[in-house]
Amino acid sequence: MCCTSVPDNSPKQRKRMIILALLSLFALFDDCVGDCVWYGQCGYNHGYRQKLNCKYTGPPKPFSTWEGLQKFKEYCPSLYTGSDVRTCCSDDQMLTLDTQVRFPRLLLQQCPSCFYNFMNVWCYLTCGPNQTEYMSVNATKPYVTPKNETVEAVLSVNYAVETDSAHGMFNSCRDVQSYDNSRALSFMCGEDAETCTPQRWLDYMGNSSKSEAPFDIYFSLSSRNVTINNTVLVPLDMKPVPCYKAVSSTSKPCRCTDCPKALCEFVLPTVSPLFRTENIIIRRPKNSTRVPWKNKNFTSIFDITFMHQILDLQLSITNLTAEYRNENITLEDICYAPLRPDNNNCTVMSIFNYYQNSHEMLDKVVMDDYGWFVVANYLDHFLYCVWDPAALADTTKLSIPCLGTFGGPVYPSLALRDYLGQEYWTAKALVITFDVLNSKKVKAWEKTFYAFMKEYKTLNKDLDITYFSKGPRIMSGLNDGAAMKT
Ligand SMILES: *[C@@H]1O[C@H](CO)[C@@H](O)[C@H](O)[C@H]1NC(C)=O
Ligand SMILES: *[C@@H]1O[C@H](CO)[C@@H](O)[C@H](O)[C@H]1NC(C)=O
Ligand SMILES: *[C@@H]1O[C@H](CO)[C@@H](O)[C@H](O)[C@H]1NC(C)=O
Ligand SMILES: *[C@@H]1O[C@H](CO)[C@@H](O)[C@H](O)[C@H]1NC(C)=O
Ligand SMILES: *[C@@H]1O[C@H](CO)[C@@H](O)[C@H](O)[C@H]1NC(C)=O
Ligand SMILES: *[C@@H]1O[C@H](CO)[C@@H](O)[C@H](O)[C@H]1NC(C)=O
Ligand SMILES: *[C@@H]1O[C@H](CO)[C@@H](O)[C@H](O)[C@H]1NC(C)=O
Ligand SMILES: *[C@@H]1O[C@H](CO)[C@@H](O)[C@H](O)[C@H]1NC(C)=O
Ligand SMILES: *[C@@H]1O[C@H](CO)[C@@H](O)[C@H](O)[C@H]1NC(C)=O
Ligand SMILES: *[C@@H]1O[C@H](CO)[C@@H](O)[C@H](O)[C@H]1NC(C)=O
Ligand SMILES: *[C@@H]1O[C@H](CO)[C@@H](O)[C@H](O)[C@H]1NC(C)=O
Repeated sequence: MCCTSVPDNSPKQRKRMIILALLSLFALFDDCVGDCVWYGQCGYNHGYRQKLNCKYTGPPKPFSTWEGLQKFKEYCPSLYTGSDVRTCCSDDQMLTLDTQVRFPRLLLQQCPSCFYNFMNVWCYLTCGPNQTEYMSVNATKPYVTPKNETVEAVLSVNYAVETDSAHGMFNSCRDVQSYDNSRALSFMCGEDAETCTPQRWLDYMGNSSKSEAPFDIYFSLSSRNVTINNTVLVPLDMKPVPCYKAVSSTSKPCRCTDCPKALCEFVLPTVSPLFRTENIIIRRPKNSTRVPWKNKNFTSIFDITFMHQILDLQLSITNLTAEYRNENITLEDICYAPLRPDNNNCTVMSIFNYYQNSHEMLDKVVMDDYGWFVVANYLDHFLYCVWDPAALADTTKLSIPCLGTFGGPVYPSLALRDYLGQEYWTAKALVITFDVLNSKKVKAWEKTFYAFMKEYKTLNKDLDITYFSKGPRIMSGLNDGAAMKT
C-alpha cells in the first residue's frame, strides 16, 4: 500500500503527514494505485433519480462537515477510528447513503446486530479506506463537472465478500420480523424469505433496476482471492456479529422473536406487541366467470368492474372516521406508515397498491400503433408486479410502478389466497390488510370498521367476506394469539 492514512494530528504526526504527502506525490509518478476506487459524487443515473460516484484512485480523505462525520459514526461504527478518520466517501455520499438505507433501517433496526452487519456491507462498499483490496470498477461514463472538467462516473463495480462473512450477515437477519408478522427479508430479497439465500439477497440489493442501488454492484462471494479482469480481489471479511450477541456494551442483542438463538428468560411473544393488522378476505363464490387474457384464464376476482368495486371498498375504509375522546380519528392517525414523516401513506397490503390505489391507474391501457388492440393493461401489470413487487416501473409498455404508495412492496402471498403454486392469476380470494400501531385509538377505530363491514356484507350478499383484527390484545403488551373473528 503506497497511500497510508495518518491516524492523529500531533505535531510529530503532522510532520510525518507532510513527508507522506510528498511521498505519495512521488508515488503518483510511480504509477501508484491508491486505496480508493471513488470519491465524491458525479452526476446521475436513471434520469435524475440516483446519484453516481466519481472514479478516484487516490488515498482516503477526512470528512469536511460535522454532519457527514456524525452519519458515518452512526452507521459505520466498525470503520470509525476517531474524528480524523479518512475514508473513500465524501460527506455527500454519506448523506445519500443515509437516505438509501431508510427503508431497510425501519425493517431491521429492532435487531441491532443484524442492522450493524447489514450496514457493514454498505459502509465498506461506500467508505472503506482500503476499497481497492476487495472492489474494482468495471464500467464508467463521462461526467462534465461544473468547472468544465471531464471526469469518470462509476456505473458498476465488482465487490468481493468472504463467503462466511456474507452467510453470517444473512443468518443474523434471516428471522427478523417485520410489521405484518412476515419476515423483513421478504421485503429486501425480491422473493420470499423462505427461498432467499445470501447470494440472492446481495444480488437483488446490488441490482439497480430492482432495488435502491444507484448503480450495479456485482457481488462475488468467495473464500479465496478472486481475479476479475486481471485484478486480484481479496474477499472482504466484515466480521459479522451473531444476532444473539450485542454489537457493543451499549447495545442489546436481538429479541428472541427476531433471533431464535437468543435466550428468552420466559415470555415468547410471537408477534411484535407494537403491530396489529386489520384484515379483509373477499371471495366470489357465486361467480366463476373467467377473465381470459393472453393465454391465461384469470379468475373472476380479476374482473375489472369487480376490482373497481373492491378498490372503492378499500378507499372507503381508508376514509372511515371514528370518534375517540371528542376527537375524529382516521386510519392515517393509527396506521403504520414506514416512511413518515416524508410519506404519511398507510401500509395497505392489497393488489390495489400495484396500481397505487388509484382507479385511474387500474384503467390504464396501452394500444397498438393503430389504436386497434390493447397491448398492455392492468393484468399485464399484475403479472409483472407479483414477480417484482418493488419495481419502480414495470417492463410492459405501461411502465408504471408496482411499489405501494407507502413506499414498500406488496408480496402476492400476502394479498392473494387459494392459488396454484405461483400462478397468482388462479387466486380465488383477495386479501386486504391494513397495518396499524397499537393504541387505545385503534380500539375506537375498529368499532367503526366492524360496523362499516357488517353493513357492507349485508349490502353485498353475493360476496363471501371475512374481516378480523389480528395482533396482541390492546394494551396488554402480550400476544394472546386469539384473532377476533366476525
Ligand atoms: C487497510 O489496509 C492496511 C494495510 O493492508 C491495514 O493495515 C489496515 O488495517 C486496513 N484497514 C482497514 C480498515 O481494513
Ligand atoms: C473488464 O474491463 C472492461 C474494460 O474496462 C469492461 O468493459 C468489462 O466489462 C470488464 N469485465 C469485467 C468482468 O469486469
Ligand atoms: C461487470 O462485471 C460483471 C462480472 O463481474 C459482468 O458480468 C458485467 O457484464 C460487467 N458489467 C459491465 C457494464 O461492465
Ligand atoms: C468546456 O471544455 C471544452 C473542451 O475541453 C470546450 O470545448 C468548451 O468550450 C468548454 N466550455 C465552456 C463553457 O467553457
Ligand atoms: C438485474 O435483474 C435483471 C432482471 O432479472 C437482469 O436481467 C439483470 O442482468 C440484473 N442486473 C444485474 C446487475 O444483476
Ligand atoms: C490473496 O491476495 C493477497 C494480496 O494480493 C495476498 O496477500 C494473499 O496471500 C492472497 N491469498 C491467497 C489465499 O492466495
Ligand atoms: C359475474 O361477473 C361478471 C363480471 O362482473 C358479470 O358480467 C356476470 O353477470 C356475473 N355472473 C353472475 C352469475 O353473477
Ligand atoms: C380458458 O378457458 C376456456 C374456456 O373455459 C378454455 O377453452 C381454455 O382452454 C382455457 N385456457 C387456458 C389457458 O386454460
Ligand atoms: C371520503 O370522505 C369524504 C368526506 O366525508 C368524501 O367526500 C369522499 O367522497 C370520501 N371518499 C371515498 C373514496 O369514500
Ligand atoms: C367530527 O366529524 C363530524 C362529522 O364530520 C363533525 O360534525 C364533528 O364536528 C367532528 N368533531 C371534531 C372534534 O372535529
Ligand atoms: C401517497 O399516496 C398518493 C396516492 O394515494 C400519492 O399520490 C402520493 O404521492 C403518496 N405520497 C408520497 C409521499 O409518496
